[in-house]
Amino acid sequence: MLSLSWLGLGQVAASPWLLLLLVGVFWLLARVLAWSYSFYDTFCRLRCFPHPPKEHWFWCHMGPVSVGGSTGLGFRDVHLWWMGPFYPLLRFVHPKFVAPLLQAPATIVPRDKFFYSFLRPWLGDGLLLTAGDKWSHHRRLLTPAFHFEILKSYVKIFNKSADIMHAKWKRLVSEGSTRLDMFEHISLMTLDSLQKCVFSFDSNCQESPSEYIAAILELSALVVKRQRQIFLYPDLLYYLTPDGRRFRRACDLVHNFTDAIIQERRCSLNTEGSHDFLKAKAKAKTLDFIDVLLLAKDEDGKELSHEDIRAEADTFMFGGHDTTASGLSWVLYNLAKHPEYQERCRQEVQELLRDREPKEIEWDDLALLPFLTMCIKESLRLHPPVAVVSRCCTQDVVLPDGRVIPKGAHNTRGRSLVGRKRGPSGRVKPFLTGPSPPTGVICLVSIFGIHHNPSVWPEPEVPPPPPSPPPTLIHGHFPSGA
Ligand code: HEM
Repeated sequence: MLSLSWLGLGQVAASPWLLLLLVGVFWLLARVLAWSYSFYDTFCRLRCFPHPPKEHWFWCHMGPVSVGGSTGLGFRDVHLWWMGPFYPLLRFVHPKFVAPLLQAPATIVPRDKFFYSFLRPWLGDGLLLTAGDKWSHHRRLLTPAFHFEILKSYVKIFNKSADIMHAKWKRLVSEGSTRLDMFEHISLMTLDSLQKCVFSFDSNCQESPSEYIAAILELSALVVKRQRQIFLYPDLLYYLTPDGRRFRRACDLVHNFTDAIIQERRCSLNTEGSHDFLKAKAKAKTLDFIDVLLLAKDEDGKELSHEDIRAEADTFMFGGHDTTASGLSWVLYNLAKHPEYQERCRQEVQELLRDREPKEIEWDDLALLPFLTMCIKESLRLHPPVAVVSRCCTQDVVLPDGRVIPKGAHNTRGRSLVGRKRGPSGRVKPFLTGPSPPTGVICLVSIFGIHHNPSVWPEPEVPPPPPSPPPTLIHGHFPSGA
């Protein structure tokens, strides 16, 4: 029994529980003090960066951040945004200032996980969300996935998926449709292609609904929606909402699909033996991403675990579908806005396919379409599919003009573990994870901002005039003497 009169509690006898409570309160107080000191220090060091006027006393610059827009000061090279009263963001819109961030080693300027953390329950420790040694190890193991010989065989898949989409458009138009949402159709086409390249699975999703594809589209939409709902950032709250429950259901569905394919493929690999399996697949040119992952081994012969394979496959499905669908939709939009460019692209393709049957683009043709390539690149500049990427600094980073980005005590894994899930291997895995608030400054590299910065591009909103067409295109035949 202890006397707590020094705390003003008179002769109240302290039980161990009361003591525990006191320790808890002191610990909390110490944490709050440490956080306040670190926040104040960062706040002072950020004074050298200008910020646009705050639109709201609490939300501050949340408007422009959540819609990815820009404000009056949008085109200063580096400027500060406040996401609510406590989260500072440094926004970079000039390549000169972005260079020190992107050229620094990933251990000093890792990817900031605050914005990506909502994806973790879905994508796990895939390339997009891992850091440090695990990232380097996986990156090395995945190198064969990007080998030309493997990518080349995918061109046939892309052609087939595009043919299905075109046939569908023709049918819809003949049935009287006068408006089609391009992004919706193209998303299905990119998902169809990816499902074939990653899993060798044909779900016919462009023609009939697929539960798996619907779940991926739903997950992508829910992540974007949650990013705009600051009060639903804590997992504990999010998973109580209908959206949170939908997210969890869709995650389970996607994981079950990937698990089933990996297990089935592992069985075939074990039955046939990896050598024969690989030989047969390489001969038929049907090596998919799951095969590459299952066959990957490091210098010590260590393979990827089931969870790692699932994470990489799910990451590719996510990373590959929306970006390409958005990029292609904007290309069509821009060509529609500039019919003269569209006509040049059409001529270039028709010229290439003139004497060919079937009229299919092949891998080697990609280098023979310079005008179309230029239009695609210009469209990606005007409308980049990934508008921003975020980084954080584990050390102070000096910018070319001498200003310093203060290092933050970041939780780069961005995890706050509040739940657990049993993985397919039977091991208990963290499931409900979410962002823990950053205590340092997040660096937002605005790809959109850089692409539209008038100090980089003299007339950022205007595509450059097309270069004069080569004589082949004017006259439809090679110039004399060629
Ligand atoms: C127009 C198409 C694409 C664009 C604009 C694009 C853009 C990007 C960007 C900006 C990043 C860096 C993210 C960051 O550092 O925070 C990234 C990473 C990544 N992307 Fe893409 N991407 C595209 C297509 C694809 C495709 C088709 C796939 C796979 C099928 C893919 C898979 C990935 C993966 C796995 C990463 C993480 C790489 C790593 O950390 O090593 N992307 N992408």
